Amino acid sequence: MIVCRSSAEIEKLRRVNQLVARILAELRAMVRPGVTTQEIDAAAESLVRAAGAEPAFKGYHGYPATVCASVNEQVVHGIPSTRKLAEGDVLSLDMGAKLGGYFGDSAVTVAVGSVSADARQLLKVTEEALFRGIDAVKPGARVSDIGAAVQAHVEAHGYSVVREFVGHGIGTELHEEPQIANYGPGGRGPRLSEGMVLAIEPMVNVGGPETRILGDHWTAVTKDGSLSAHFEHTVVVASGGCEILTLLAGDAARDAELENAART
Ligand code: MF3
Ligand code: CO
Repeated sequence: MIVCRSSAEIEKLRRVNQLVARILAELRAMVRPGVTTQEIDAAAESLVRAAGAEPAFKGYHGYPATVCASVNEQVVHGIPSTRKLAEGDVLSLDMGAKLGGYFGDSAVTVAVGSVSADARQLLKVTEEALFRGIDAVKPGARVSDIGAAVQAHVEAHGYSVVREFVGHGIGTELHEEPQIANYGPGGRGPRLSEGMVLAIEPMVNVGGPETRILGDHWTAVTKDGSLSAHFEHTVVVASGGCEILTLLAGDAARDAELENAART
């Protein structure tokens, strides 16, 4: 069953998802050569707790950290470590939080210092693919319309969509129904209705779509070692379309932009 949330619940989901968006913007501003992914994770956990929220991933099936930090050929679920980021890396940061009983979830992939034109193009196409998927969300559309839109955009640019990991419903649990594949034909699966809350999260590889899991039992990497990117937003289906709950609203967005601009 896919739950449709009441407006009171949506307000709580807005709060936690805006918190996630604000913290991700702060983490992004920490990304530079020499920083370790553990330092970013520690900052994430203190920011989450300072807001009276809890990390959503820490302890989830034994996951040990607040963020997933996946570098270069790592697709998702990279465990923060003492690895120092290097100029030219791409880092995907995925973070979830729980506040007042409701979950938020979002991810971005960012360039560390200046990166190759190929890496920049991968990030651009993956984020665009997320927005193509989001554009497919409206009452009456079908769940698989999202993945069909994502896949069409990704493959038009010669990249491939990861199959093994999917987006998901989200609300009072981190992962709820439905599963949202990032590929496949449209026009299938349940119809979307107002109040459904979805975390849409395409993972895109420069090379082939296949992944494997490292010996730490978490980190997913591309089988061919090619670069990979991941972007995620949590959205609520609304009249005529959807509202992106993890898009920074108002002043916070300006502040984050200014911080980013100040660094470059
Ligand atoms: N955004 C990812 C997801 O929804 C991150 C989960 S990491 C985990 O699956 F540790 F919580 F599994
Ligand atoms: Co997610």
